[in-house]
Amino acid sequence: MLVLGVESSCDETGVALYDTAHGLVAHALHSQVAMHSEYGGVVPELASRDHIRRVLPLTRRVMAESGRTLAELDGIAYTQGPGLAGALLVGAGMARALAYALGIPAVGVHHLEGHLLSPLISDAPPEFPFVALLVSGGHTQLMHVAGVGRYALLGETLDDAAGEAFDKTAQLLGLGYPGGPALAKLAASGDPARFNLPRPMLNSGDFDFSFSGLKTAVLTLVKKAGMDAAADIAAAFQAAAVDVLVGKSLAACTHAGARRLVVAGGVGANARLREQLTCEAARRGIEVFYPRLEFCTDNGAMIAFAGAQRLAAGVEADDMGFPVRPRWELATLDALER
Ligand code: KG4
Ligand code: ZN
Repeated sequence: MLVLGVESSCDETGVALYDTAHGLVAHALHSQVAMHSEYGGVVPELASRDHIRRVLPLTRRVMAESGRTLAELDGIAYTQGPGLAGALLVGAGMARALAYALGIPAVGVHHLEGHLLSPLISDAPPEFPFVALLVSGGHTQLMHVAGVGRYALLGETLDDAAGEAFDKTAQLLGLGYPGGPALAKLAASGDPARFNLPRPMLNSGDFDFSFSGLKTAVLTLVKKAGMDAAADIAAAFQAAAVDVLVGKSLAACTHAGARRLVVAGGVGANARLREQLTCEAARRGIEVFYPRLEFCTDNGAMIAFAGAQRLAAGVEADDMGFPVRPRWELATLDALER
């Protein structure tokens, strides 16, 4: 089954082609980061307009690179939510129109399901069940994953998402948007032990997170220690955030009796998180799976893959409408009957 995937929920337009028999065939991405960086964050209306400009050229590029034709497509998947309403509508409208013209089904995919299943786009994918740590710019969740569509929420952030905390801390340190990668780079030259920042809720006994206090602690530290200490502050923040993510993820695995942990979402690209998690997990006999680095952040491949799972399982494409869901709880998805 050959499925085209379209992602347009936030500030990246992603298009990809996934073949259930041969894996990922082609993918292309346009990031709007340069456009939004002038404003210090994503401007929703600019995002929608840019998705309109990019989505068809990217689709043509993916089709050309794949050597396949539109007539060979069996279905089209698009991000239905959660995300920015206007941005979502671009991908949804394009996907539905193309599917209608080709007489094939279109399926709306949950953006976080895309992230969560992204480590499965691999030659050695993890088997179900597993615990998933979803750490993106908008979400921080621990889920128990029994199969495609069988998601149970174990815990989530009570305030800021992990990526948001990286971005806000980066902003306090005068780094651009999005701040995660820049903060990680600065932290690499800093001493994580010079300042000791709190590890919020590390020992709260549940699987919830809180990152807004950490951001406030950084602000206080910046005022006290000054910008000369920026690298050490970045390192201290990263160490604290990573400690919490690692501690909670492993506690969730123990609680769920899981031997496998999957990490997905933009913060999953963080080198310190990967190092510490892999090392601490190994000591407990837990194997950790990550998506390819380029598929940690938003991309079309994960949407093509998740959509292909649903279409291959015979999920009925709904009517001609394409309602998007700016807010959408992952644990409310239907399990797939195989
Ligand atoms: O998954 P994603 O592309 O977008 C959402 O769906 O939200 O994640 C983007 C987030 C941003 O907050 C970005 O700063 C963060 O992931 N990020 C990182 C790194 N790379 C991206 N955070 C920490 N370290 C990184 N290397
Ligand atoms: Zn995302």
